[in-house]
Parts: sequence; structure tokens; C-alpha cells
Amino acid sequence: MTRFETYKDKEVLITGGLGFIGSNLAIELVKYGAKVTIVDNMLPRQGGNLFNIKDIEDKVKVNFSDVRNQLSMNHLVKGKDFVFHLAGQVNHVDSMRNPIQDLEINCLGTLVLLEALRHNNRNAKVIFAGTRGEYGKSVKLPVDENHPTNPKGIYAVTNLTAEKMVLVYHDIFGIKGVCLRITNTYGPRHQMQHDEYGVFNWFIRKALDGEAIPVFGDGKILRDFLYVEDLVECMLMTALTEEAYGMVFNVGTGIPISFIDLAKKIVEIAGSGRVEFREFTKERKEVEPGDYYADISRIKKIVKWEPKTSLEEGIKKTIEFYRKYKDQYW
Ligand SMILES: NC(=O)c1ccc[n+]([C@@H]2O[C@H](COP(=O)([O-])OP(=O)(O)OC[C@H]3O[C@@H](n4cnc5c(N)ncnc54)[C@H](O)[C@@H]3O)[C@@H](O)[C@H]2O)c1
Repeated sequence: MTRFETYKDKEVLITGGLGFIGSNLAIELVKYGAKVTIVDNMLPRQGGNLFNIKDIEDKVKVNFSDVRNQLSMNHLVKGKDFVFHLAGQVNHVDSMRNPIQDLEINCLGTLVLLEALRHNNRNAKVIFAGTRGEYGKSVKLPVDENHPTNPKGIYAVTNLTAEKMVLVYHDIFGIKGVCLRITNTYGPRHQMQHDEYGVFNWFIRKALDGEAIPVFGDGKILRDFLYVEDLVECMLMTALTEEAYGMVFNVGTGIPISFIDLAKKIVEIAGSGRVEFREFTKERKEVEPGDYYADISRIKKIVKWEPKTSLEEGIKKTIEFYRKYKDQYW
């Protein structure tokens, strides 16, 4: 028996399941025999794309609703064993242009989901996808979970607040919840229409189009980039780890790379595109937290997870996917 056979016949709700991470997660869960329901409102300019679940479309239920809708959520949480909460306003630039929407989706949406669980199903376990942005500017590297949280943008503030809500419902109402602070993730099924979030995938698009990859500033800022298959494995393992509930975990590789080195590597592997330095735009500069890479010792110890995919392998697999399905994402 593989460790994920526990998911066979389990009822799983994925909020934001038509997006990048949610659809990759749904595909894996279906593989292990889980009964997957997706709720997604196809928010414009985000990653929701029906093509993402093309291979499993007859094996999952899709509910086109909004996590802010209490009546929908009351109904959808009934009978569920696990809820992976990935519906979010993820666009960092939009979060500053339209902060009220960000607050409504990320905070109110999370609270509506938790209230739905409190009144309809306290046995479900919640896995919340938060962001490394919750830390803000790093004062110490690598960043562990005790690092101060001083978010630089509204997106990160609302994620941090949503995380705290999950933990409060865990402590007070006994609804088991675990919170992940996820680093920049890349790979197949990410939106490729614009560069307002998901910079890694945007670099890949530029390379595949044979265009200049814009690297802001001197390109020396360090980041920790995780391949989506590793993240999905991490989520599946975390959800099955009893001791993990009530806790917060960093999810990343712990291996830093600069934007300039990343862009060069992508050009080299794609065999097309070129690197070009650009001045930071004002919008970018405002929310740029600087260097980040994660200390992942807590998740390694408790969940026994660690990433497996090298950067080169991840880039190759991502390029292969988009070469094949370009028409669905460009
Ligand atoms: N991709 C990353 O690098 C990364 C890093 C850290 C955290 N996260 C978090 O993971 C989650 C998923 O991100 P993603 O990269 O898959 O983004 P994505 O844009 O591909 O997916 C988000 C999905 O949520 C849906 N959605 C948005 N608002 C909704 C609402 N009110 N009701 C129902 N559905 C709604 C969108 O339609 C979209 O399909 C987000 O919460 C994000 O903050 C992502």
C-alpha cells in the first residue's frame, strides 16, 4: 500500500481547484481514488482554467461558486473529510489596486468556509495555502517559522490574517487546521497571460516566445522556487500527518537562486529568449520584500517531506508542458 491510498474514497473539497495548485492537487487526488469536489468562481485575471482539469473532468464535481457565499459553502462542506483551501486573490499588484476585494476573498472567504465547517461539519480537516509573503522583509536567512511577520503588501496581510483564523478555529472549535507558508511555486497549469504574479512561469513564457525576459534591478535578489509536483506531495503528506494540525509550516526548497541566474538557466534550457535588465516599476518596488529562502527543517521533521525535483528538471518539465499546450494558456 502506498502512503496515499488513505485517500481512496475520501471526500475532498478543493477551493480554487481550477487554478494552478488546486488542479495539480485534484489530478493527484483522483489518481489515489479520492472523491474530489472543486469550488471555483473563475475570478478574472487569475489562474482558473477548465483545461487544467481536462484529464479528470469526468471524475470530479465542479461547483462554480464563490467561497464568500455562505449558503454554497454550508452545502459544499457537508460530508467532506479534507478541505484544501486554495481559493484566493493571488495577484499582488491587484491586491494594492483593489485591496477591498483582496480582503473580501482572502479573509471573508476563509471565515465563511470556517463558519460553514463550524455549523455543518467539524470533522473535516483544513489545509490552508498561505504564503512566504507573510514574513515580509527577511531580517535573517534562511527564514524559519519564528521569523517576524511584517507583510509588505495587502495580499500578504490578508493571507496572514486568514492563517490566524484557521488556527483560532482549530483551537476554539476543534476544527483541525494546518497552515502552509508556501514559497514561489512554478510548473504546469499556471496562468501565462500576464506577469502580475507567478514570475517564474512568466519567464518561461517569454523564453518560449523568443522574447526578452525582464529582470528587475540588478537581478541579484534571491528566491526559493518550488516545483508544483513537490508542493502537491507536501500537501497530501501534511494532510495525513496528525501532529501537523494546529501548526504553521514553511514550504520551499531552502535553496536560493537569484533572478538573473534563474532567467539565464531558463534561456539555456529553452534554447530561446534572452535576458534584459529593467528598472523596477513603482508598483513592484512597493511590495518587493527582498531576499527570501526558507528554512524547511520543521516540515522535514514533522511531516517527513522534502522536495525532490531539481530546478533543471522542473524547468524542463514545465517547458515541455507549455510547448504542448501553448494554445490553452497564451
Ligand atoms: N503559486 C504560488 O506561488 C503560491 C505561493 C504561495 C501561496 N499560494 C496560495 O495558493 C493558493 C492558490 O494559488 P494558485 O497559484 O493556484 O493561484 P491561481 O490563481 O492559479 O488559483 C486560484 C484560484 O482561486 C479561484 N478563486 C479566487 N477567488 C475565489 C473565490 N472568491 N471563490 C472561489 N474561487 C476563487 C480562482 O478562480 C483561481 O482558479 C492561493 O491562495 C495563493 O495565495 C500560491
